[in-house]
Amino acid sequence: MKNILLIGGSYGIGLAIAKELQYDNKVFIASRTNENISDMNVTHLTFDATTDTLDTSQLPEQIDGLVYCPGSINLRPFKGLKPDAFESDLQVNFIAMVKVIQSILPNLTASKQSSIVMFSSVAASMGMPFHTSVAASKGAIEGFAKALAAEYAPKIRVNVIAPSLTDTPLADKFLNNDVKREKSAERHPLKRVGTSEDMAQMAHFLLSDKSSWISGQIFHVDGGMSTLLVN
Ligand SMILES: NC(=O)c1ccc[n+]([C@@H]2O[C@H](COP(=O)([O-])OP(=O)(O)OC[C@H]3O[C@@H](n4cnc5c(N)ncnc54)[C@H](OP(=O)(O)O)[C@@H]3O)[C@@H](O)[C@H]2O)c1
Repeated sequence: MKNILLIGGSYGIGLAIAKELQYDNKVFIASRTNENISDMNVTHLTFDATTDTLDTSQLPEQIDGLVYCPGSINLRPFKGLKPDAFESDLQVNFIAMVKVIQSILPNLTASKQSSIVMFSSVAASMGMPFHTSVAASKGAIEGFAKALAAEYAPKIRVNVIAPSLTDTPLADKFLNNDVKREKSAERHPLKRVGTSEDMAQMAHFLLSDKSSWISGQIFHVDGGMSTLLVN
């Protein structure tokens, strides 16, 4: 049984990952809230990634998998975006993740081979208006992931999932009525938006030994958005 730490996991994609993993892994969820997970077979640690230092004494000495879920979708015209907005997006998406990884490096290297899964966005590889801040943060993740994967191979595998619009609380403002939902589905070659389960299944695979020869990759789980041009 693997020990898996999810930063975030109380709702959204992280919760779907916890549901996928809970039967054949020991799952630790570090997040600010825990309402949705009280009846699940997981251990919860109260943790704010942007302000707190992770209390590693509450974690096992060996961690076989880490998933970092906190992220943002702040879409604004570049002209009106203050540097603070870039800093806060970078903080929650990237800097806080770097701190978590550094704090549990001994636990990750205690595993025969551990796996880190990060979340980027379709906006890191496709230029989209009003996405400058989130694209910069997610671009940082993609470059960082490849360098980290090289530095720690073969001991730690590092992979990234780059979703397009996925039905979670984070994306609610883009999907909160039928018209928005239909337009968003229509923009994707596979004619729907993503579900948390689409992402969770990929994360589960990347955390498992089934992906033991895969590292340094960006997985575009995006309904064909980043690569297919269809009518
Ligand atoms: N949904 C999309 O359309 C979409 C598209 C592209 C990329 N992504 C990326 O996919 C990842 C997951 O997105 P999601 O849609 O599942 O997001 P979400 O619905 O906002 O869920 C985020 C999870 O992370 C936790 N979290 C947020 N801030 C935290 C903090 N400061 N400290 C600790 N935990 C924190 C939340 O729990 P608490 O509030 O309890 O702390 C929650 O469990 C993100 O990186 C996002 O950028 C999502």
